Parts: sequence; C-alpha cells; structure tokens
Amino acid sequence: MNKTEFSQESKAIVTAKLVDPSQETFDAAAAALQDGKLVAFPTETVYGLGADATNDTAVASIFEAKGRPSFNPLIVHVADLDHARRFADISPLGEKLAAAFWPGGLTLVLKRRPDCVLSLLVSAGLDTVALRVPNHPIAQRLIASSGCAIAAPSANPSGKLSPTHATHVVEGLSDREELAYIIDGGPCSLGVESTVIGLPEGGPATLLRPGAVARAEIEAHLGAPLAEPAAQGATDGRSSPGMLASHYAPDAPLRLDAETVPKGGLLLGFGNTPDATANLSSTGDLKEAAANLFAMLRALDMQADGRPIAVSPIPNEGLGEAINDRLKRAAAPRD
Ligand code: TXA
Ligand code: MG
Repeated sequence: MNKTEFSQESKAIVTAKLVDPSQETFDAAAAALQDGKLVAFPTETVYGLGADATNDTAVASIFEAKGRPSFNPLIVHVADLDHARRFADISPLGEKLAAAFWPGGLTLVLKRRPDCVLSLLVSAGLDTVALRVPNHPIAQRLIASSGCAIAAPSANPSGKLSPTHATHVVEGLSDREELAYIIDGGPCSLGVESTVIGLPEGGPATLLRPGAVARAEIEAHLGAPLAEPAAQGATDGRSSPGMLASHYAPDAPLRLDAETVPKGGLLLGFGNTPDATANLSSTGDLKEAAANLFAMLRALDMQADGRPIAVSPIPNEGLGEAINDRLKRAAAPRD
C-alpha cells in the first residue's frame, strides 16, 4: 500500500492521505476538522469518518461521502461525560451507564438540550442525539486537539462492511474529495461497532443495536433486562434508523449457520472447523471473532469472486449477539 506523505504538493493529486499519528498529523487533522473537512480516525470499535459535529455543511458531507440515506442519524464522539453534558440531558439511567462503560464501546441516545449547538443533521430530525466517549488514544487526542465534538459513522460507503484497518478506509473512501486525512492507528481492537442504547423518557433502557459491549454486561449494571425496540423499529429504520435490514453487505452471497463448505464456495469458520477457508477464532473465542469479523469477510469476499461464502454457527451469547446481528444483515436480501 502506498503511504502518502503529508504535503501541500500531494494535495492536488491525493485528496485522502494515510498518515501516521505524529504531532503534525494531529495539528493538520484538527485544522482540517475546524475547516469543515472530514478526517477518518481509528476507535476501539471501527474506524470513524469524522466531522465537526456543530458544522452543518461538514456533517452533510459525511452523508455525501458515504452515500448514506439522510434519515440515518450519526454518533457524536465526545471527550468525557462533562463534554456530553454540554449537548444532552443525561438521565439518571444515562449517568449510570456512562459511569460504568465510558470510555468504551457503548453509545447512549440522549435527549438534546434545548441549547444544544450540535448540527440538527446529526440527529436526522429526532430530538435525541447519540453520544459516545471512545476508548482510543488517537480518537481522544483528535477530540482534544480539535476541540470538536466529532460526528462519525463508520468510515465505509453506506451498506458496505465496516472498516477495522486504515487500508479498508483507503479502499472505500480515498477518492472522496471531502476526506482530508486518514489517520492510521493499526487494527481496531474490538472490531464491531458500539452497542447503541436508547433511553426514552420514563421508559426502560432499550437495546437499539447490539455491539461491542455485550447485553449481559449492561443488564448486570442496570439490574434489569434491556427492552427491545418497538416491533418494527429494528428493521424499518424508524426507532433506530440505522438498522436497515441489508447492511454490511459483501458482494458474495452469504449463507449462515453452515456446517459444511458449500460446493465451489468458501467457509468462514468458527471453532474447530479444519475445512474453513478462514477461521474467526479456532479456539471459539468470541472476542477474537469480533475483532476478525469484518477483515475476514472482506478478504473472503475478494477471494470468492462471486462464489458463495458460508459461515459456521456462532453462539448467540456475549459478543456473539453483535456478530450474528452483523452477519444476518450481511446475508439479508439486497435491493
Ligand atoms: O462503534 C461505533 O459506533 C462506530 C464508531 C466510529 O464510533 N460508529 C458507528 O456509527 O457505527 P454509525 O453512524 O454507523 O451508527 C450509528 C447507529 C445507527 O444504528 C443509528 O441509527 C444509531 O446509531 N443512532 C444514532 N443516533 C440515533 C438517535 N438519535 N436515535 C436512535 N438511533 C440513533
Ligand atoms: Mg456503519
């Protein structure tokens, strides 16, 4: 892969640059954010495509770069709970979850404060905003050096696999002019997106999207089960608008819960699957499987060249819930 040096001259030719996180990188990336440009950066879950969350035009260019349906709201990344308080009313339940899981892979959907200066676009017309404190030194330093709350969905074209390596971002988005920099922080340690929790006023905490923090861990802290989103919400894009049925889609057709390698196809294994083309975790470790999921799906998709990919059964416990959720979407019928 070409690593492009940061320089003025290269700007005309290479609009998006893969840069190592030196001090100049942070200065340049912070200036780009303040200037309304986009910066892709690593978090512990996946790479994010970031913009100054108070800048309408910058946020709009995220939707543009991803080709994302405009009804889909974005997560805003903040430094800590105090930073979050500037934008949202934190309910007692929100305080409890933030204390337990921030910084980390948990996103809280909170009521926007009346004086909230975040772009209305990040909320896509709702009166709530999704906030997260990332547990990653590069993400944190980018927030600190820019002074911005950073709106960032995963840094992939809409509907495609989420990026867990900087090279994935290069593959998907480097031709986008809005994208000023891609900061390379190596592979993401968790590898699936954050768990999204809705906190409706007076209602129970709701699991809007399974993710990097397992349901059981959250329920243990709450001392109560998480509610499910309203019946249609999970698939029709209303109560959690990001949860489109087909998402994270590879090009190859995907068959789940497979016990054998499909004829002429490939197998993404889990556990003791010696015939697998690639194995998410040969020891059956769900954490390792989550970290490998998107990178292995990408690699197999390239190798498959249209042939089917089968995936071994993954137990639906702990991080398995998020992995199965992403696999189900990747296998769903496409439009
Ligand atoms: O791990 C992650 O969450 C990554 C990294 C970059 O932080 N970000 C990410 O963002 O996955 P995105 O935009 O791809 O997913 C945001 C999810 C979507 O399912 C969206 O519908 C939901 O959060 N969401 C955002 N704001 C919401 C809101 N106000 N109400 C309900 N759901 C919301
Ligand atoms: Mg995404």
